Amino acid sequence: MTTPPSGRGVRPAPGVPALRLSGVVKRFGSLAAVDGLDLEVPRGTVLGLLGPNGAGKSTTMRMLTGQSLATEGRIAILGHEIPAESKWARARMGVVPQHDNLDEELTVEQNLRMFSYLYRVPRRGRREAVARAMRLAQLQDRGDTVVDDLSGGMRRRLLIVRALLHRPELLLMDEPTVGLDPQVRQELWSLIDALRSEGATVLMSTHYIEEAERLSDEVALMAAGRIVERGVPSELVAKYAGRTVAEFTTGEEGVAGLEHLLHRDGFATRRTGTTVSALRAEEIPDPLLARLGTPHRRAGNLEDVFVALTGENVE
Ligand SMILES: Nc1ncnc2c1ncn2[C@@H]1O[C@H](COP(=O)(O)OP(=O)(O)O)[C@@H](O)[C@H]1O
Ligand SMILES: [Mg+2]
Repeated sequence: MTTPPSGRGVRPAPGVPALRLSGVVKRFGSLAAVDGLDLEVPRGTVLGLLGPNGAGKSTTMRMLTGQSLATEGRIAILGHEIPAESKWARARMGVVPQHDNLDEELTVEQNLRMFSYLYRVPRRGRREAVARAMRLAQLQDRGDTVVDDLSGGMRRRLLIVRALLHRPELLLMDEPTVGLDPQVRQELWSLIDALRSEGATVLMSTHYIEEAERLSDEVALMAAGRIVERGVPSELVAKYAGRTVAEFTTGEEGVAGLEHLLHRDGFATRRTGTTVSALRAEEIPDPLLARLGTPHRRAGNLEDVFVALTGENVE
C-alpha cells in the first residue's frame, strides 16, 4: 500500500468525527453479534459504550482496531476508512487491551521505552514521552520498579499510559476496569478524568453503570448488537427514570398487584426480588401512592434507563 486517498499526515477537516460507524454488522454464523450499528463520536468527548455481557461491545472494539472485519457497513476512524486505511488510523490511536500484556520482567521505564519505539515516537521526543506517561500514571517514582513488583492498580495505570506515548487523538479501551477491586477502579477513574481534561477522545466499553455515569460525556446503550439509545447520562436518566425512583417492597404475592397498578397508570417498573421499583416516581399521584404503600425513594440511574428501554439489566 502506498498513500491513502486522504494522504499521510493530512489532518481531516475539523468536522470529521473521531469515529463513525454506519450500518455495521458482524455475523458469526447465524448470530449477528453486531447488528446494524450506527455511531458517531465527536472529537474531544468521552463516550461510554454501556451494555451487558454479550451485547457486542468487544466485537465492535475488535473491528475498530482492525483485529476483526465487519461483515457489512462502513467504519471510519479520524476520517480513515477501516480496514483499507487501518495502518494510518492505528498510528493516530491508542488501544488499551482488556488483558494486561506488560512485560513483567522489565521495569516501568523499560516497558514504556520499548513501546515508544513501536509507536515510532521520534527519537528526540522519546525521553519526554516516557516521563510524561509516568507522571500521568503517577508512577514517576517507580521508573526502576520491575512490573512484577507493581500493585494491580499501578499495572493497569501503566497499561493505559503506554497507549498514550504517541499522543494518540483517539483512545480505545475495552472494559478497562473489569476484574479490578473498587479501590483500584477509583484510581483509574482519576486517570481517565485527567485524559478527558487534556481533550482526548475516548471510546470506552463497560458494563459498570457507575463507571459509565461518572466518566462519560455521553453514553451509548448497547443491547443485542444495537445501540438502543444515546445521550448525556443525566439527560437520559431525566428522560426515562425521572427525578426519583420509588421502591416498594412487598411479599411475593404482592408483586403482581403492585406492577398492575403502576402499569395501568403508565409507570414503567423494574423488579428486583420482591421489590418493585417505579420510575418517574415524582409523578405518581397521591391516591395511587396511598394504594401502593410507603416507598423507599432514591435517585434514578442509568440502570433504570437500561431496564426501561430493554427490560434487561446491565450489571
Ligand atoms: N469469535 C466469535 N465466534 C462466535 N461468536 C462470538 C465470537 N465473538 C463473540 N461472539 C458472540 O457475539 C456476542 C457478542 O460478544 P461480545 O462482543 O464479546 O460482547 P460483549 O463484549 O458486549 O460482552 C456474544 O453472543 C458472543 O458469544
Ligand atoms: Mg467484552
